[in-house]
Amino acid sequence: MTATSGLSSVRASYDTVAVDYARLLGPELSGRPLDRAMLAAFAEYVRGDRRGVDRSEGHPRGGGRAVADVGCGPGRVTAHLDGLGVPTFGIDLSPAMVAVARRTYPGLRFEVGAMAALDIADGVLGGVLAWYSTVHTPPAELPAVFAEFARVLAPGGHALIAFKAGDDRKVRLEHAYGHPVDLDVYWTPPDLIAGLLAGAGLAEVGRLVREPGENENCPQGFLLARKG
Ligand SMILES: C[S@@+](CC[C@H](N)C(=O)[O-])C[C@H]1O[C@@H](n2cnc3c(N)ncnc32)[C@H](O)[C@@H]1O
Repeated sequence: MTATSGLSSVRASYDTVAVDYARLLGPELSGRPLDRAMLAAFAEYVRGDRRGVDRSEGHPRGGGRAVADVGCGPGRVTAHLDGLGVPTFGIDLSPAMVAVARRTYPGLRFEVGAMAALDIADGVLGGVLAWYSTVHTPPAELPAVFAEFARVLAPGGHALIAFKAGDDRKVRLEHAYGHPVDLDVYWTPPDLIAGLLAGAGLAEVGRLVREPGENENCPQGFLLARKG
């Protein structure tokens, strides 16, 4: 399968499941305290609270700059992060997901786009969030994606990646959220994610790996990195 046909399948699959995905996962974050802790830490780093504030160019380090939630789906995490005091907008490959997000959170901005080619200027963002959205990207294509994240981040900006932290494998998904889908899901060792981020100029700040929770089939990884 080529990268292009892979993206088409991902887009079509998420267009199919968008409404039911939003309905089924809506309240999920409230039952995941460790996941919320990583989002809270990310928000604090992006806001540039307290020590280490660099006010060059009129910005606290990262503070005041926006975050792109890349692969935002129905916008539930975009809204959560925005509620933590970090101005956040969403981007997703799936027009149906973007439509759901716009309907559900009319006060936030959501656009259709692909994470490997963001329609964002160089060096302008305080943060990039990829919350389980890189899981359909083959590991061989992740360097280009992480390079794109690094391109749009301001110096000192942060990236947070949530991913399936299993051994290195591809899991085929043909049914999800009550619908047929055509998706590959990549489980990726945290050291591999950390190494690829570092290769793109995003140095690890910290990571969390937690045991699988309800409806999860492998450990879950969260990796926070900073553009040097
Ligand atoms: C598992 S869902 C996660 C959605 C959202 N982050 C959440 O946690 O609710 C994966 C999302 O990533 C999007 N996605 C996958 N590959 C993408 C790409 N290359 N560019 C942009 N979005 C992508 C999908 O369309 C889908 O909405």
